[in-house]
Amino acid sequence: MSGPINSGKRRRAADAPAVLVDLDATSDRPLHRQVYDGLRDAILAGRLAAGARLPSTRALARDLGVARNTVTLAFEQLRTEGYVIGYRGGGTRVRNTTPDALLHVSRNAPARGQAEPLRSRSKPAIKLPRVRLPARGAALVAAGKDLGETSAARAFRLGVPALDAFPASLWARLVARRWRRGKVDLGEGHAAGDSALRATIADYVANARGVRCSPRQVFVVNGTQQAIDLISRVLLDREDDVWVEDPGYLHVRIALRDAGARLIPVPVDEEGLDVAAGERASPRARLAYVTPSHQFPLGPVMSAPRRLALLAWARRAKAWVLEDDYDSEFRYSGRPLPCLQGLDIERRGPGDEPCVLYVGTFSKTLAPGFRLGYLILPDALVEVFRDARAALDRFAPTLEQGVLADFIGEGHYARHVRRVRALYAERQETLIASATSELNGLLKLTPDAAGLHLVGWLRDGVSEVDAVRAAAAEGVEVSPLSRYRLTPQVAPAPGGLLLNYAGFDERAIRVGVRALRHALEVRRD
Ligand SMILES: Cc1ncc(COP(=O)(O)O)c(C=O)c1O
Repeated sequence: MSGPINSGKRRRAADAPAVLVDLDATSDRPLHRQVYDGLRDAILAGRLAAGARLPSTRALARDLGVARNTVTLAFEQLRTEGYVIGYRGGGTRVRNTTPDALLHVSRNAPARGQAEPLRSRSKPAIKLPRVRLPARGAALVAAGKDLGETSAARAFRLGVPALDAFPASLWARLVARRWRRGKVDLGEGHAAGDSALRATIADYVANARGVRCSPRQVFVVNGTQQAIDLISRVLLDREDDVWVEDPGYLHVRIALRDAGARLIPVPVDEEGLDVAAGERASPRARLAYVTPSHQFPLGPVMSAPRRLALLAWARRAKAWVLEDDYDSEFRYSGRPLPCLQGLDIERRGPGDEPCVLYVGTFSKTLAPGFRLGYLILPDALVEVFRDARAALDRFAPTLEQGVLADFIGEGHYARHVRRVRALYAERQETLIASATSELNGLLKLTPDAAGLHLVGWLRDGVSEVDAVRAAAAEGVEVSPLSRYRLTPQVAPAPGGLLLNYAGFDERAIRVGVRALRHALEVRRD
């Protein structure tokens, strides 16, 4: 269902904002963001004139058929950005001067001190310039449209770790100590990263994940996403085939498409990526992207025979394997299999070159805000990547790298990871317990031995889109599994919802599950 919500002719206060807001049920853009966008566009286009009074959040929520909190969030954002102001009595009005007007200087703008001509209320206040984009830019913009959500995270938004557990005062002390001791280098950083940090990472991944590397092979990146982007630029030509897991990680597909690669969807089953299916689809692919320790988003661990088959194929095809080990620190039971990178080095025959590029991130263990991760490169690629990085964004911020080197080197990182692992295990238990009592018959959640999120299966006949929309109207953020699929399901299969539990405390999880029950019960009626 898509289209203007509530286009009835009833007269409302102000300019009937409900008819100006287009809610799209098929969009992943949260509802509060859609309400905000609709009102902001209306203000900028003059459909909501300067001084116009907005209805109350309660009335607008009722007219749009959404939770009041959804509208409140949209109003708060508009207020923060200066589009509307509150006035005495609790109402909200459109400001006389929008922030956009202040940012644009028109050629015909009145000179200082000259009065601005009065505008007719019915004419658009500002014409937003339309930029004609080349196909590549347009594709990138379209891909990023519903990503980059910055509003306060609500249960169960994906990608949010336990920010409440971050050791902020310890971090602050380490930063201050560096400044005090004059250990902050404000000059040029090294393209491959801070040497102390590279050494501590090499130690850490050897012990924790069985990676076989020297500090020289460690390359500090601004998160996994930059590693994928660099790999695409350096190792792929346009039209090269790349195997990607289906369903799989959305962001990797965006970077690969931007580089002009052809995505070859390879199905995933309970043993992880189906290597034989990949070989049938594209035996001469240049790269395979895999999440072997905990497949994203379904969760299976890649079996040992599949690992060996993948490495054997890569050697035959002279292809690269990109191993994304994004949440391997969070395994709650069973022993983790060592990573593919270590296996690649161990099982190498005479004349075989290493083919695995291993990526790890601090986004899950510390916080995504640091934008720090690492790429472990085969020896032959170390200088190649250093030169390529130097030509692009040059190097990662130096102060954060230095502080992180201290944090890991002094044992704080290992302690922090242990602490959050226990916390995540508890949070997963809370989600399972709460879902068992509240979501019985509505959403089937089973425990997972690893990771930060769970997949919940809907009853037959309930569409993911409807469920996501109903959840959003109750103030809950869940992601539809179909968003991560490249190949649409042929046979009618149960829909799936992804629920991140790691970033939310016990209360938020319980409140979120209860709200989800209301949402899914409505779907049942
Ligand atoms: C599969 C996968 N890889 C990597 C990441 C981390 O990305 P980054 O390091 O760019 O923050 C995520 C985060 O959600 C993920 O889901």
